[in-house]
Amino acid sequence: MKIFVTRKIPFWDAEIKPLVDAGHELVVRTENSAISAAEMKAELAKGYDGLLTLLTDKITADILAGDTNKQLKIIANYAVGFDNIDVAACKERNIWVTNAPSDAVNESVAEMAWTLMLALTRRLNEASEFMHNAAYTGWEPGIFMGSDMKGKTLGIVGMGRIGSMVAKRAQGFEMKVMYHSHKPMEGNEFEYKANLEDLLKQADYITLHVPLTPETTHLINGKNLPLFKKGAFLVNTARGPVVNEAEVAEALRAGMLAGYGADVLENEPHPQAELLQMENVILTPHIASATTTARRDMTKIAIGNLVTALAGTAPANMLQ
Ligand code: GLV
Ligand code: GLV
Repeated sequence: MKIFVTRKIPFWDAEIKPLVDAGHELVVRTENSAISAAEMKAELAKGYDGLLTLLTDKITADILAGDTNKQLKIIANYAVGFDNIDVAACKERNIWVTNAPSDAVNESVAEMAWTLMLALTRRLNEASEFMHNAAYTGWEPGIFMGSDMKGKTLGIVGMGRIGSMVAKRAQGFEMKVMYHSHKPMEGNEFEYKANLEDLLKQADYITLHVPLTPETTHLINGKNLPLFKKGAFLVNTARGPVVNEAEVAEALRAGMLAGYGADVLENEPHPQAELLQMENVILTPHIASATTTARRDMTKIAIGNLVTALAGTAPANMLQ
């Protein structure tokens, strides 16, 4: 069967064997940039049975409308998040959709959330920039004073697999953990806040681990930012639009937030311009799962899902 891969992914050559052994015909796009909607539509018009997509590839009902897409059986998304795909439209057309989570992938994201929290706390980006600028002329007791994590309250928004891994790691820092999600998690000893606002008022660190849906779009916004505890840090390794970035910038300017650490942007790849001017903002280019272990897992999972689905069996990590 015929498979379209929108961009060559890490560990592709090392993990491709199951696809080759199954005798599939592979069309791998060679451009090192995200595919446009027009190009995707034109490519799919050629007729494919399987599709490997990246989080930058938008799969809409319009893109799937062509007759040739009737042969499409599986879209394997090379990501944990799947807000780039209209999963309901795929279901209507009997197209399976899978994502690519694993413990290693989830752990990489959890570790990135901690990386950002630690970096904000100790002003790592500012201090490092100072060194790179050769501005250090000798030890001074009063420079780059930060704060401590011990005894602070960590507020986790979204207590799925990644949120739970973030919570587990808080123990080492002797922090108190509270979380908000639509229901309390079974067998979880952390304090549950049914109301997001209660968490925002009490947490010193707020870290976001919800999928992007209509309900979570702008979950953090100008209405609830004023409720944040004084000196609180906000960290986003979920999806950019979970926060209203312009209103976060405003809250930072007004001193309602002590810092913002984000691996994701509301409009990737363009950060809200004002954020770039702020010293207490750390931005990274959507690299939370960019570890060799996680990327290799993602490649293996996406390839495995294509092989399974094209053999006629429901694959793992089905989203419908
Ligand atoms: C990355 O953002 C992912 O969803 O895997
Ligand atoms: C700092 O390096 C100290 O020794 O106090």
